[in-house]
Amino acid sequence: MIDFNNVELVGQSTPDPLRYAFARKAAPHSGGKSAPVPPPQVQSALQMALDSVPTQSGARCLYIHIPFCRVRCTYCNFFQYASSKTMIDDYFTALMVELKRKAAQPWTQAAPFQAVYIGGGTPTDLSAEQLRILGRAIHDHFPLTPDCELTLEGRINKFGNDKFESALAGGFNRFSFGVQSFDSKVRRAAKRLDDGDVVIKRIQELVAYNSAPIVIDLLFGLPYQTLDIWQSDLEGYLASGAHGVDLYQLIDMQGLPMHRMVEQGKLPMPADTPTKATMFERGVQFMATHHQRRLSCNHWAKDNRERSIYNSLAKTTAEVLPIGAGAGGNVGGLQMMQTRKMEDYIAAINADQYPVPMMMRAAPGGELTSYVKAAFDRGVVAKRTLNLIVNEDLFGRLMPLFQAWEKNGLVKLTEGYVTLTLAGQFWNVTLAQAMIRTIGMLNDASQSDHVAA
Ligand SMILES: C[S@@+](CC[C@H](N)C(=O)[O-])C[C@H]1O[C@@H](n2cnc3c(N)ncnc32)[C@H](O)[C@@H]1O
Ligand code: SF4
Repeated sequence: MIDFNNVELVGQSTPDPLRYAFARKAAPHSGGKSAPVPPPQVQSALQMALDSVPTQSGARCLYIHIPFCRVRCTYCNFFQYASSKTMIDDYFTALMVELKRKAAQPWTQAAPFQAVYIGGGTPTDLSAEQLRILGRAIHDHFPLTPDCELTLEGRINKFGNDKFESALAGGFNRFSFGVQSFDSKVRRAAKRLDDGDVVIKRIQELVAYNSAPIVIDLLFGLPYQTLDIWQSDLEGYLASGAHGVDLYQLIDMQGLPMHRMVEQGKLPMPADTPTKATMFERGVQFMATHHQRRLSCNHWAKDNRERSIYNSLAKTTAEVLPIGAGAGGNVGGLQMMQTRKMEDYIAAINADQYPVPMMMRAAPGGELTSYVKAAFDRGVVAKRTLNLIVNEDLFGRLMPLFQAWEKNGLVKLTEGYVTLTLAGQFWNVTLAQAMIRTIGMLNDASQSDHVAA
């Protein structure tokens, strides 16, 4: 019996579910029971997957990781290495070896890639020449669809016209800049480089090139970021002219520099969950008032120039080929995270090995888990799609969960659809995790019924 009164699954019954349905955002979890590949078999299993030519290929993406930043931002958990020219150059050399080796595999050549993402860290810390070489190498060695989206992530600091033009010449056609906040006090406290007015002006210049979509990330909940400052940040997005924006709530993890600074009294507390919920509400209202097109719970576009192909594909059933230290991906049912340690990465590449210390074989039902995560990210679960994946009426079996959510103000039920309310959108990751857990419990229950029978 599943307890549909369990607040961890269905949330609190409260007049204010946006702020109080759950205590805090659940950590994303892969769901399903994937099995580790025994370490001695990691190399051969991956080689076998990359040697094979799939008869049918779904969407595929390429992810390349650049693990350097000039300065570590206080709130960030992605920081790996401080940018140093020698280290970046050595890394770039190894990266190009891995890129060409992976490009030559039969699996890679079997079908075109729809989206490429160069993420970090701060990929815009590569030199102008490296950006051009990287872009050209991707075009020269990988099969790409004619409308392939090639995103370069980074920040505007030291991203001059030379780098922008070089990246365009390399074939990058989408640029994603972390802004976080346009407020100079918030920025300095977070150790962001450049003041807010410099950032707005630079984004306006990049947009005025009229060469590619320019999208930005904003964070809400940072120390010193009051509701008024958040309102100005949202207005800053409009003023910048950027083609799209992601609004992310700050995830405050143990071990972040920000956390220590708060404990030492050097920074005020970041926003609590109810305040972040209010900030999210303001963000959603602001985007609606200004007729921004919503692409997901957290992402909006100004116009059709922003397509956000990588984000939507990588969150669904697309396969993602990873390249670089700290890159993660999944190919042929194998999920892997490449080593984050620079020395190990370079040693593996020099030894003609895959830099993969650990790999998992995807659990059966991986497609279902991916659909659930993608559906909640978009804000709607569709009965037809869900039931088609599992070939049974799972939507019907989940109805008690959906009804409990509806009672608690998290979703709205209509024929064949579960649509997230504003509160549900704020808690979308928590709801996705709750649904994945419930499916697991339903499956366990029906397995024990079979055994009992
Ligand atoms: C890993 S960063 C890379 C982009 C670039 N280096 C930059 O300076 O923003 C990508 C995005 O992760 C988000 N991010 C980083 N730390 C976060 C945190 N603690 N909570 C929520 N989002 C975070 C930020 O919005 C950032 O733009
Ligand atoms: S936000 Fe970007 S620049 Fe700052 S530490 Fe994280 S990855 Fe590096």
